[in-house]
Amino acid sequence: MSRLALRDFRSYDTLDLDLDRGVTTFVAPNGWGKTNLVEAIGYLSRLQSHRVPHDLPLVRAGQEQAIVSARVHRGERHVTAEVTIKAKGANRARVNRTPVRVREILGLVPCVVFAPEDLDLVKGDPGERRGWLDSLLVARNPRFAGVLADTEKALRQRNALLKNLKNAPNPGLASTLDIWDRAYAEAAAALVVGRRRLLADLAPHIDTHFSALAADARESRRAASAQYRSRIDYTAVDLSADDAVLRTVDVIVDAVLSRRNKEIDRGLTLVGPQRDDVELLIGDVPAKGYASHGESWSLALALQLAGWDLLRADSGDPDDQPVLVLDDVFAELDSGRRARLAHMVTQAEQVLITAAVGSEIPADLVGRTVDLTAVASPR
Ligand SMILES: Nc1ncnc2c1ncn2[C@@H]1O[C@H](COP(=O)(O)OP(=O)(O)O)[C@@H](O)[C@H]1O
Ligand SMILES: [Mg+2]
Repeated sequence: MSRLALRDFRSYDTLDLDLDRGVTTFVAPNGWGKTNLVEAIGYLSRLQSHRVPHDLPLVRAGQEQAIVSARVHRGERHVTAEVTIKAKGANRARVNRTPVRVREILGLVPCVVFAPEDLDLVKGDPGERRGWLDSLLVARNPRFAGVLADTEKALRQRNALLKNLKNAPNPGLASTLDIWDRAYAEAAAALVVGRRRLLADLAPHIDTHFSALAADARESRRAASAQYRSRIDYTAVDLSADDAVLRTVDVIVDAVLSRRNKEIDRGLTLVGPQRDDVELLIGDVPAKGYASHGESWSLALALQLAGWDLLRADSGDPDDQPVLVLDDVFAELDSGRRARLAHMVTQAEQVLITAAVGSEIPADLVGRTVDLTAVASPR
């Protein structure tokens, strides 16, 4: 990414930054807008904030829209990707000033953000882990944005029908439920297979990063792993087979059929990807509830770095690598993990780091330092 421009994004009225390869460290006191900056880059990458579920807070208070644009290399060319986030109404996007559908921005600005909130990937609810997995799925293959939307829609419609059946039993509606079972299973199966294949790709990278970051021999002897957990048993589906999605559709249809009465009683879909989880293990114990604070940090970082590895491998072009963003994380890490993380990220083509105080960053990593207080004012 060679240029980033913000207009009325969060606390920024105007920000224009030229960015270099290698490491750039942004230093500013807390509340100055470091995370806002990082969030803008993440938004362009995923069309979604890494800290809020809705877009409204992204638009500077009192303004009608925010604009985020970035210039990136794509092969031989420069591409400018721009998204306009509307406080009200539909967002818009342009590529090289030509209007495009917003989703076409996905994949143009690959980026991985690691932030203190990512500790929730280890310690938080299943929704955190699903969100991480789905967002990486979309980053690797924008087609999954449609799969996610289809799954949500089918789930909403199926739930509405189940609620009707709960309130007023109706044999006519029950046959409509067959149709919705199928529609739901088809959308959900594509998502589940995508997630399970992604986890299989991630697994070796998660363990490699975890053991590289682990503080001492005792920690590093234990392997980190991630397993897809669902109330539906998918173990019979061979993920490497071409018909994995079709087989998964059958498994989901069977699973909802066997719970039909229960689901009508509850007026709710009880099984499916919206309820699944990624179980993280260190050795053979679950990280959640058992891992030390340091281990939890290593594992959360390992998850994001594993995603970054896959995006890097997907790109294949050394001039066209995903940006790695480390938002205010060095202050949280002990000195061993700081040094090991610093060593690891020096391979990155472009790393953006934020810190309240420059001295938090290991000296061999700092790179170019940008004093944000000199380029943007606080609000
Ligand atoms: N939509 C918005 N409009 C104006 N200011 C905002 C908006 N959203 C957040 N802010 C301001 O941005 C600041 C927080 O910036 P942040 O990037 O989180 O700081 P930090 O440098 O600590 O990471 C707060 O002062 C907050 O009030
Ligand atoms: Mg911050």
